[in-house]
Amino acid sequence: MIEPGGYIRDIFKKPLGAQVEAHGWVKTRRDSKGIHFIQLNDGSTFQDLQVVIEDGAVPETALAAATTGASLRVSGELIPSPGAGQAVELKARDLHIFGPADPATYPLQKKGHTMEFLREIAHLRVRSNTFGAVYRVRNELSVAIHKFFQERGFLYVHTPIITTSDAEGAGAMFRVTTLDLMNLPRPVDNTADFFGRPACLAVSGQLEVEIFSLAFTNVYSFGPTFRAENSNTPRHLAEFWMIEPEMAFCDLDGNRKVAEEFLKYIIAQVLDHCQADLEFFNKRIDNTVLATLEHVASSSFEHVPYAEAVRLLEKSGRNWEFPVKWGIDLQSEHERYLTEEVFKKPVVVTDYPAEIKAFYMRLNEDGKTVRAMDVLAPRIGEIIGGSQREERHDVLAEKIRAKGLSEEDYKWYLDLRKYGSAPHSGFGLGLERMMMYLTGMKNIRDVIPFPRTPGSAEF
Ligand code: 4AD
Ligand code: MG
Repeated sequence: MIEPGGYIRDIFKKPLGAQVEAHGWVKTRRDSKGIHFIQLNDGSTFQDLQVVIEDGAVPETALAAATTGASLRVSGELIPSPGAGQAVELKARDLHIFGPADPATYPLQKKGHTMEFLREIAHLRVRSNTFGAVYRVRNELSVAIHKFFQERGFLYVHTPIITTSDAEGAGAMFRVTTLDLMNLPRPVDNTADFFGRPACLAVSGQLEVEIFSLAFTNVYSFGPTFRAENSNTPRHLAEFWMIEPEMAFCDLDGNRKVAEEFLKYIIAQVLDHCQADLEFFNKRIDNTVLATLEHVASSSFEHVPYAEAVRLLEKSGRNWEFPVKWGIDLQSEHERYLTEEVFKKPVVVTDYPAEIKAFYMRLNEDGKTVRAMDVLAPRIGEIIGGSQREERHDVLAEKIRAKGLSEEDYKWYLDLRKYGSAPHSGFGLGLERMMMYLTGMKNIRDVIPFPRTPGSAEF
């Protein structure tokens, strides 16, 4: 039997002289006279374990096969390392190769590769320094998100991935069908399809978390989300992960407070648990990342109503690609100006014009704006979108009609306003946008294991 062995990160905690066994993949190999050095990594930590092999210490054939990319088991003694970069090294006494890797064809070489090239080898890029750090941070971020909500008594809800309601018009939807596309009768008979009606992949779980918040008070979802917009940008994916808390008996100010606490909490957790990975990002990807995170974790966010944001943009004297006036949707250039140049920290913009926001947002007294909030972050732009929901039955019914939606389709959603309605609010955080913020990675395709974007879905 082969049982899961000790991680390299635990080996680093052992005392000098300990007899240890390590498993992993060879990152690099270096040979000098009578002695061989292997950098071994098992993904458990950023730091590679340096293995030193003296001639004759291990079988020749095993030593010959221990080249970059190979997987192996090595045992020996932990000794002080004279070399720079590590305090200890493993002096090998036995070496076993599980899987060799031909150095002539193994695609991950020591020289730096472009992100574009690495994207084409998503099955191997996970073993590189950069992607090792990315996926460890992603794991820690996910844990921190659950911790934040669990510590506050929120119920974790799984919302459907396949949906038959057009949700909220958050974006174009992917159709799910078993109809024979090669033989599609016209007009299409949806009753002959798998669910007997049109079905799509969910663009959000919000309407469903609302159901749960009106029974469990505070809830959240954390799952995959699908949008078929043709947005080929460094910040859009067709499949991404979203976290959607929903809170009953909570208004927009409460919502904004939770969003700020939440972002600070997850930043602090990642700073605490992923020090070596973040130092790598700070050194190799974006040298402002650590300072920014430390600053954000300890300072308060800015809050500006939309009307005020528009005034700031109008008097900026900038030549905007998308001209600014009250009523426009803020574009990336506007969001970045506000966060990067005016406030130099995350900004929460609230009370957007009703016209440009979804039907479910609560109408303000002025009849023109809604209780919406977007959290904008430097470099990234919108990282959170949320709102206080319209809880008044008749106002909501009127908005559904005004947006040209069918009241019949939203019967259950209106029912929630008929039976025990309550003020409630929530928001959605894009996990990958948060990852970009934490790591300084410039393209959203490089913070998700298998990116799906227009024209591209490897594997
Ligand atoms: O602003 P959005 O569309 O809001 C909603 O879906 C609401 N139902 C949330 C709620 O109130 N419960 O999306 C929320 C966040 C955005 O702020 C952004 O971070 C991320 O989801 N997001 C995307 N991330 C990657 N690729 C895309 N195509 C994204 N679209 C939205
Ligand atoms: Mg939004």
